[in-house]
Amino acid sequence: MTRTILRGRVLSFNRAPQSIDDAESYLYLDDGSVTLENGIVVAVGDFAGTNTAGAVIIDHRPNLIMPGFIDLHLHYVQSQMMASYAGSLLEWLNTYTFVEEQKFAQQGHADAVAVDFYDALIRHGTTTAVAYCSSHPRSVDAFFAEAQRRNMLMVGGKVLMDRNAPEGLCDTAQSGYDDTTALIARWHGRGRALYAISPRFAITSSPEQMEMASALVAEHPECYVQTHVSENDAEIAYSMALYPGSKDYTGIYEDYALLGPKTLLGHCIHLNHRETRVLAETGAVAVFCPTSNLFLGSGLFDWERLVNNGVRVGIATDIGGGTSLSMLRTLDEGYKVLQLRGQRLNPFASFHMATRGNAEALGLGDTIGSIEPGHAADLIVLDASATPTMRMRSASVQTLAEELFLLQTMGDDRAIVEVYVAGARAKSTLVGL
Ligand code: GUN
Ligand code: ZN
Repeated sequence: MTRTILRGRVLSFNRAPQSIDDAESYLYLDDGSVTLENGIVVAVGDFAGTNTAGAVIIDHRPNLIMPGFIDLHLHYVQSQMMASYAGSLLEWLNTYTFVEEQKFAQQGHADAVAVDFYDALIRHGTTTAVAYCSSHPRSVDAFFAEAQRRNMLMVGGKVLMDRNAPEGLCDTAQSGYDDTTALIARWHGRGRALYAISPRFAITSSPEQMEMASALVAEHPECYVQTHVSENDAEIAYSMALYPGSKDYTGIYEDYALLGPKTLLGHCIHLNHRETRVLAETGAVAVFCPTSNLFLGSGLFDWERLVNNGVRVGIATDIGGGTSLSMLRTLDEGYKVLQLRGQRLNPFASFHMATRGNAEALGLGDTIGSIEPGHAADLIVLDASATPTMRMRSASVQTLAEELFLLQTMGDDRAIVEVYVAGARAKSTLVGL
């Protein structure tokens, strides 16, 4: 049994920081060690006190060892269409997205995109992501098969969509149910794969399909549920016209019993007070997608209002509405969105959210998202001097908070110098890096 010891500065959160001075919310070791065995962290401590006998030591000093990033919402099938020039959500969906996703009907396309997608994810330091696949079951097979080859913990599912989209992309209420049932049987719990039942959003699911989604959720309480809500004014108006009997947009999903602690709701920008209360009561997670919300002009997520009302919150890239796979870029844009709201996210809160916070949003806080004995060795190594400009700025950095803020404000995939997935080096071993 090989024991590997990573040496470097170590940072891991044990709870959400209450303020920038809340040093008890995290563990920070200036010269630390993380001992790995069989893909699991078995010890964390000061290097000086670590038993190194017989171990392979990898020295990452002076860089920072952290848990791998977790991305709570993206569309892997949109990897090849991010940065498409569109005004707003519905135009973007119809002009680019629905065209792109139809390519996944072709044999082989999903397999090729999945390889590139996971390479990119690793380059950016994301070790777990929650993904929408296309409506084609083979896109889900490609997504989980490639994750399995890389031993990555991934969550995902086939989108359910049976109307208001091109025929080549639409399933039916029955085929969506049957395909989802088969995919759950094939993938959920196999290796590190976890399934998310994924009605795309109210506009593209008929009431019959919502009934079927409701049945799937009742039959598979072990699975996640993901959908989009309250992203854009036109989307909200259209949804309410399609479901006039529901109290509001969130009410549509509530009426079909889709909301619970395993439900991830992308965007949640324009929620009214009742919707906010429903999220808090059901434990559903509001997923902040800052680069997407800015790119599509969707609006400014109200972090403080949601958190102060007891709503669970996470953060994500939302590729391809989002413009970068980097969680560092995402934290940066998130900071700026909140600046425009007069709110201020401190750098400890940001990095907590991208690691332990998102792990807890998934109910996986005891497995991933922090560096603790017994947790998966999904880790990243960050270099705040990764580029000449960052190096120049780093010269005047004096505190950990300043270093983190520099990383999130100026960093991207170049700041991720190594990635470990289940204890194995994953970035430096990429072909053609
Ligand atoms: N709403 C429904 N589908 C999508 C999608 O693919 N991206 C975004 N940003 N919003 C959506
Ligand atoms: Zn999305």
